[in-house]
Amino acid sequence: MSTPRGTETPAPSITSQARRKKERGQLGQPVRGASILGTGSYVPEKVLTNADLERLVETSDEWIVTRTGIRERRIAGEDEHTSQMAAAAGRRAIEMAGLDPLEIDMILVATVSPDMMFPCTACFVQKKLGAFNAACMDISAACSGFLYALEVARNFIAAGTHDYILVIGADKLSSLVDWTDRNTCVLFGDGAGAAVVGHREGKNGILQTVMGSDGRFSDILLMPGGGCRIPITKENIDQKLNTIKMSGKEVFKQAVIAMQAAALEVVERSGLRPEQISLLIPHQANSRIIDAIATRLKVPSERVFMNLERYGNTSAAAVAIALDEANRTGALKPDDYALLVVFGGGLTWAGTVLQW
Ligand code: UT7
Repeated sequence: MSTPRGTETPAPSITSQARRKKERGQLGQPVRGASILGTGSYVPEKVLTNADLERLVETSDEWIVTRTGIRERRIAGEDEHTSQMAAAAGRRAIEMAGLDPLEIDMILVATVSPDMMFPCTACFVQKKLGAFNAACMDISAACSGFLYALEVARNFIAAGTHDYILVIGADKLSSLVDWTDRNTCVLFGDGAGAAVVGHREGKNGILQTVMGSDGRFSDILLMPGGGCRIPITKENIDQKLNTIKMSGKEVFKQAVIAMQAAALEVVERSGLRPEQISLLIPHQANSRIIDAIATRLKVPSERVFMNLERYGNTSAAAVAIALDEANRTGALKPDDYALLVVFGGGLTWAGTVLQW
């Protein structure tokens, strides 16, 4: 990462952090391998096109497509909450894994648009799925949340304390967006993606993950209101403090730097070369960010999975929905190496290499 504004010490690069850990022998292999046993996703029925947005704010289909690659996004109904989308995606993943919901022993929901401040959205999902043997918690790492949750799950599987973990990325950002702010409202959509993680004999499907964060950039992508610092009051709502604020250009720049570094680092730590990656599944935020990463990794466009033209940026759900679509459409074949790389508010970022 480059040096953040107003700080004297440069942020340590992901590479140097990993190298130091390697020297200390902290990059060991997991005791028990973890694989993805099933995937699922869900997007709401309602489609909001760029033409629809032209009627809401001063924008154009041409601007949105050329600057972001997005053509339409899905918007959840007023009564359709994050937990409902999460449960729908989770149910599909459990079905594909061939499990009964009662066999799931942990549910992790990555989200920044939970149904409520508490209880956690994972508990609502548990109730909907009847997965009553699961321990439930949410993970908050914005758009990076799904890979963070996947890595938490991998560690529980590796430790041998849990057998089947349902990992979900779900967000209803339409409920956090200022629909009069053209800088943000054209970007986001709603949805959920899920994966069941467990041990598969003779397979070590989740090969490596790198994760990083830099809180010095916490002010470039955030929703300031709604927590204890800026509670929900009429005054704060009138000032729209309970909506997403973003410095788009700065986020763009940091996204490219962090995702490129994370991608290169995790590929190296997996003992692979970029040309061995069969499918790059990046966070679906902006086609120009994705192009920059693919170019740096020298991954040709036909090996890059993209669905942002249909769904926009669905935050924690984006890479999870893409993984499920890649799985169900046959874009991922057995033993293929897939590279997932994400970036989000915090700032947070992560890269994961899977062997399918
Ligand atoms: O999940 C991770 C979170 N988010 C991201 O990854 C987003 C990262 N950032 C981006 O994707 C891009 O920065 C944006 C798509 C948000 C913006 O693209 P940009 O090329 O960085 O545009 P800009 O912000 O520099 O704006 C250029 C112009 C401005 O007009 P002026 O000041 O040059 O007259 C904006 O006001 O475009 C204007 N603009 C728009 N025009 C039409 C901003 N939004 C719109 C819009 N329609 N929706």
